Amino acid sequence: ATWLNLTLQDSASPVMEQLIFFHDHALMIMLMIITAVFYTMISIIQNKQTSRFILEGQMIETLWTIAPAIILVFIAIPSLRLLYLMDEIHNPVMTLKTVGHQWYWSYEYSDFTKLEFDSYMVQQDDQPIDAFRLLDTDNRVVLPMNSPIRIIVTAADVLHSWTVPSLGVKTDATPGRLNQMSFSINRPGLLYGQCSEICGANHSFMPIVIESVSTNQFINWVSKMSESPMDWK
Ligand code: CUA
Repeated sequence: ATWLNLTLQDSASPVMEQLIFFHDHALMIMLMIITAVFYTMISIIQNKQTSRFILEGQMIETLWTIAPAIILVFIAIPSLRLLYLMDEIHNPVMTLKTVGHQWYWSYEYSDFTKLEFDSYMVQQDDQPIDAFRLLDTDNRVVLPMNSPIRIIVTAADVLHSWTVPSLGVKTDATPGRLNQMSFSINRPGLLYGQCSEICGANHSFMPIVIESVSTNQFINWVSKMSESPMDWK
């Protein structure tokens, strides 16, 4: 995530890469339709041909009904492919559980003992000069890259939504329900996300920060956390 970014963020997972390809594909089809429609409109405006007797044209009506249906198939098939691809859980090596609260996220690494913490947004007065305003958290979600991860999402009070654009993950956090998603991160770095379900006064102030690290660094972090969970920073 950088400043003045108008389009999608760079992907950090294979699924998001596919989502960007699909977005571009849909945009190209849209561009072709817009071009055809504008060309037709302008040529209709510019010529003076009229017909006082034409009432119907079976051929053109059949064509302009079937043609859009065929175009829609070209969007629907890759869309369904992606939908089912995102739904698939590919033998995850670990599971991260996240719970949405008003107004912060809490995380539980259920594969390890007593590894759980809350993640609050850092207030502006407390954060270093190079930090992202309204986007950094006191406790980051550390995750290993290049490994399939399952995330299960729920909420403790109202609806929230755990959303990380660069991973292509957006899962509703619903009280009384567990939602599941899977992803694998394909590069190291910090990945930013935000809650995206209007959840109350501080909806804008419950960001998500994922610290994507190598497997070794992740194991070191986990063992450090398990030794002294209270003051691991
Ligand atoms: Cu939590 Cu919006």
